[in-house]
Amino acid sequence: MSTIHVVILAAGKGTRMKSAEPKVLHRAGELPLIEHVLRTADSLHPATTVVVVGHLADRVTAALGKRLGLRFALQQPQLGTGHALLQAEPHLAGATGTLVLLSGDVPLLRPATVKTLIDRHRASGAAATVLTARVTPPHEYGRIVRDGRGHISAIVEHKDATPAQRAIDEINSGIFAFALEPLFDAVRSLGSANAQGEYYLTDLVGLYRSQGRTVETVVLEDSREVLGVNSRRELADVTAILKTTRNDELMAEGVSIVDPATAWIGPDVTIGPDTVIHPNVYLEGRTRIGSGCVVHAGVRIVDSTIADGVVINNYCVISESRIAAGARIGPFAHIRPQSEIGEGAHVGNFTELKKTVLGKGSKANHLSYLGDAVIGEQVNIGAGTITCNYDGTHKHQTVIEDGAFVGSDTQLIAPVTVRKGAYIGTGTTIREDVPAGSLAVSAGKQRNIEGWVEKKRK
Ligand code: UD1
Ligand code: CA
Repeated sequence: MSTIHVVILAAGKGTRMKSAEPKVLHRAGELPLIEHVLRTADSLHPATTVVVVGHLADRVTAALGKRLGLRFALQQPQLGTGHALLQAEPHLAGATGTLVLLSGDVPLLRPATVKTLIDRHRASGAAATVLTARVTPPHEYGRIVRDGRGHISAIVEHKDATPAQRAIDEINSGIFAFALEPLFDAVRSLGSANAQGEYYLTDLVGLYRSQGRTVETVVLEDSREVLGVNSRRELADVTAILKTTRNDELMAEGVSIVDPATAWIGPDVTIGPDTVIHPNVYLEGRTRIGSGCVVHAGVRIVDSTIADGVVINNYCVISESRIAAGARIGPFAHIRPQSEIGEGAHVGNFTELKKTVLGKGSKANHLSYLGDAVIGEQVNIGAGTITCNYDGTHKHQTVIEDGAFVGSDTQLIAPVTVRKGAYIGTGTTIREDVPAGSLAVSAGKQRNIEGWVEKKRK
């Protein structure tokens, strides 16, 4: 087995995106376009991965800076795909084996397809193997020209093609496997006498054939896999395909998706069987959802873990939190980072939690803000309860122990602790700890001033 090296081209300007952002950082299915390509590259376990950057290079390298082992080659100015590949040469000095060329703007390519490309390339011993597809109409893609025996003889760019060549519906995907040994010398010898005045990598095919080298092709079955993103329209097309593919996988695994057209489920999200996902739901990041859950319409969940049998009612936003089995959330609840909701607990409408633990069986059913709080089991939080956790400088903790009952419209001025089984009367401002089993009230006695309204009117 020869070694695999990957080069990803990502230096182009992406003019048609009309964006201040580099094209390859635009997101489809949650991930930047180039991240999709890098994941495919990773699946090949390459010895080297080089990304060729140019236009807005700093932004691309900064965005990918966390990925270990990635190498960058700078192409300045951008003189075409052949010139781009040449910039990767210093990173591959003395390397042997197979170079797989990917495009940073072709995100749907599957690892299995690249593996087939590599296998056929190795089996035939070709100098180059081109991944092609049949596309009607063939748009602006480079066309695959074949000789009388059906063998590839050249790739002709759309802008350089004759009318007869433009009628060819077999296109160049821009994905190749190359034998490294003759590659860079050959690319160096390419010229730029063409419609765009660029160094076309695609000219290598004609050159190799004239040198008597073998060039092979692998024809894709599903041409959608090599859709390149050159415009916002194509970005949306690719995004829709990613969504459908992911939803189909999940449904095959036993997840019910009521309206697959409006369920947006990220590539790293997992969902257990018999969970029902209603329309307009967004599940993102490293979210894990158990089985038998119901996620109602309009919910957004990011980087959170939801156990089995949880019901999330409409229009909740949940991020970086954990929800235990059988809990019920919402509608209209906001669960902010580092919150933990215990088994069977209820969080009702217009309730916000931040960095708060709500114990097993506890309830905060209406209109509450619970921040930096540790709330035990079987606690009742009455409507309108607020933890006053912030004094303008620091955040402080509220502790409410098991079995406590917090009456409606209570303010808990942190730091403060309410001990086991304590009872807080409605409308109380809690400034001091409440001992176990006691009642806390702070409101004064009610006064009724008789005849006041009548007097005021005069
Ligand atoms: C290219 C191919 C075409 C193929 C199509 C598939 C050439 C000459 N043409 O055309 O045959 O059908 O891809 O999508 O190769 N890039 C650089 N530096 C450059 C120019 C481009 O890094 O100087 C990168 C781009 O960022 C992009 C890729 O190479 O990732 C393809 O470039 P693009 O300009 O989109 O080429 P196409 O005209 O689409
Ligand atoms: Ca392109």
